[in-house]
Amino acid sequence: MSHLRIFALITISCAMLWGCSAKQNQELTAAQEQAVAERIAPAGHVVKAGQVVAAVAVSAGGSARAGDAIYNRNCMACHNSGVAGAPMFGDAGAWTARLEKGIETVYTNAINGINGMPARGTCMDCSDEEVIAAIDYLLDNSK
Ligand code: HEC
Repeated sequence: MSHLRIFALITISCAMLWGCSAKQNQELTAAQEQAVAERIAPAGHVVKAGQVVAAVAVSAGGSARAGDAIYNRNCMACHNSGVAGAPMFGDAGAWTARLEKGIETVYTNAINGINGMPARGTCMDCSDEEVIAAIDYLLDNSK
């Protein structure tokens, strides 16, 4: 093989490698998302079915948990560091851009999940109101 061909091969494989890793940074597969969610969930949050039922019963019976508590438990792992392109806590510019589509859409996207954002931000025992309270806390501190 000539030097030129070897050089061309190396260039092509570098471009391919770079392309792959750049893509990985932006898009997580569903399995990766699940893995991330499980890794960042606070210890004890990945619970058995019975515990989820108990937690839901508590939140249904009692008053909704405060937005800051939910944020600190379920959201900050990604939104304090910008994991997978998450708009960051305190980054007014990033949130203003998101709010252009309307706050209801932003709420719905967070509840249902969108791209790297897992449904309910991994707070599976959160009611819609509790997810919204966490978003309001995030937005109030990102102006
Ligand atoms: C596993 C990481 C992760 C966790 C945990 C997480 N988020 Fe996100 N979030 C993201 C990413 C990534 C995006 C950007 C998604 C996109 O638009 O591509 C995002 C986007 C959002 C958005 C903007 C949605 C839109 O329409 O633009 C809101 C609101 C939000 N997250 C709220 C939350 C709340 C509240 C929690 C906790 C209950 C939470 N997130 C937990 C990663 C996460």
